[in-house]
Amino acid sequence: MEIKNICCIGAGYVGGPTMAVIALKCPSINITVVDANPEKIKSWNGPLESLPVYEPGLAEVVEEARGRNLFFSDDIAGNIEKAEMIFMAVNTPTKTEGEGAGMAADLRYIEACVKDIAKYSKSDKIVIEKSTLPVRTAEKIKEILDEETSGIHFEILSNPEFLAEGTAIQDLFKSDRVLIGGDESKTGQKAVSALVDIYSNWIPKDKILTTNVWSSELAKLASNAMLAQRISSINSFSALCEKTGANIDELSKAIGMDHRIGPHFLKASVGFGGSCFQKDILNLVYLCRYYGLNEVAEYWHQVIKINDYQKNRFSQKIINYFGGDLKGKRISILGWAFKANTNDSRESAAIYVAEKLFNAGASLVIYDPQVNSSQILNDIKSYWSKSILKEDLESSLKIATNIPNDVDAFAILTEWEDFKNLVISKKPIFDGRNLLNGKAKMNIYKLDKSYS
Ligand code: NAD
Ligand code: UGA
Repeated sequence: MEIKNICCIGAGYVGGPTMAVIALKCPSINITVVDANPEKIKSWNGPLESLPVYEPGLAEVVEEARGRNLFFSDDIAGNIEKAEMIFMAVNTPTKTEGEGAGMAADLRYIEACVKDIAKYSKSDKIVIEKSTLPVRTAEKIKEILDEETSGIHFEILSNPEFLAEGTAIQDLFKSDRVLIGGDESKTGQKAVSALVDIYSNWIPKDKILTTNVWSSELAKLASNAMLAQRISSINSFSALCEKTGANIDELSKAIGMDHRIGPHFLKASVGFGGSCFQKDILNLVYLCRYYGLNEVAEYWHQVIKINDYQKNRFSQKIINYFGGDLKGKRISILGWAFKANTNDSRESAAIYVAEKLFNAGASLVIYDPQVNSSQILNDIKSYWSKSILKEDLESSLKIATNIPNDVDAFAILTEWEDFKNLVISKKPIFDGRNLLNGKAKMNIYKLDKSYS
């Protein structure tokens, strides 16, 4: 099947970069990314320095493809109608109300996409799940589309995205694997081939894995769960290291040199952040409970519990260092993004640590090289407890445009390169990101000895 027009619904961290790369590598296909937020579309069409997503290498890709065969538009109806293939790359956050609140994935944005696809389609379409979804969502999508249309054939594929923020372009250029799940029927396999053909323009064939739809949907949740599990495992060992005098960097290295374990995702930290690990594991826990697999659910829930423990443990170290109270202390929060090389701060450990320190009486000076002050304030308003927010934020919270000097301590919460020089500071540095390779952690070890 020849694909001439692709529409991607959702111009966020996944939709923007993935479509930009497909457009770059497939110049004969027209790709239009649409979004319900017209401001976002305006920024994607605006200056390259202020695209809505900051990713190394993204601006160059957009510069080459935009206007040639890559377009950003708020005409959702027209672009659905025109496309033979539609990607859904909308957000799937944790539900905040109703059944499964706090655990299950909120599928309202996916449902809205599916309704739009049903409403505006006039010809057969391949509909692709790019968003991360609970296993068996494709079944519901097909049901809605078949119920709400007649005479149009929809083939649903699962093609989860594995890019990590900060390295998105590199990950898309050289993916470890591209996973495509499709129905085993003849039409299903035809749709799978059409998508394989697109990726084959730059991904070696042996890295394109085709499976049934359910394996593909579940493999995405399972991959994120396994990655997060490694971080919680190493973080749990960091607590034991501090009690025993073992060094967590040495431990990580020793473990990771076993080729069966491997060295990646063994960097101790203040806890993982980002929009996906926590919400995907919660979704997995919910699914396991739904299928009556309570032991399996508990096993995965523990990964989140250790992550919360690590964020609290780190904050408490700082509070203990100053004698249990931070009144009158100015603490510099260095880094707000959930990891380096991104402007994304969703679920960043910094948000939680900052709240705890603020609650203990500290005044905070927050600095991040990429996250702007309005986003920081927005995060504070949406994540911090409402009772804290009644206090006079302006007098005790400052957002700096550079690394501040006039503070009592630094807390490194994002592994930005800019913070590596801090080791020369005479002030205590609490290195939550294990960035200074033990140099500044002397403060923490001293603290452990005096307070344990
Ligand atoms: P995002 O919030 O950055 O972007 C989602 C976009 O979809 C928003 O711009 C929103 O306005 C738009 N949208 C929502 N509903 C819409 C609708 N009905 N019609 C049109 N536009 C609509 O989200 P994201 O980070 O790109 O994540 C998208 C999905 O990809 C999620 O399921 C996520 O779990 C998954 N994922 C994310 C990453 C990542 O690194 N961020 C990596 C892999 C997978
Ligand atoms: C993660 C996965 O790595 C991607 O494969 C996946 O596509 C994506 O989630 C998703 O589904 O959204 P991302 O969250 O962008 O990507 O970034 P990671 O590099 O995985 O880092 C996540 C968090 O873990 C960060 O806060 C990072 O600092 C922390 N981390 C990572 C550690 O604390 N230690 C490590 O060794 C590695």
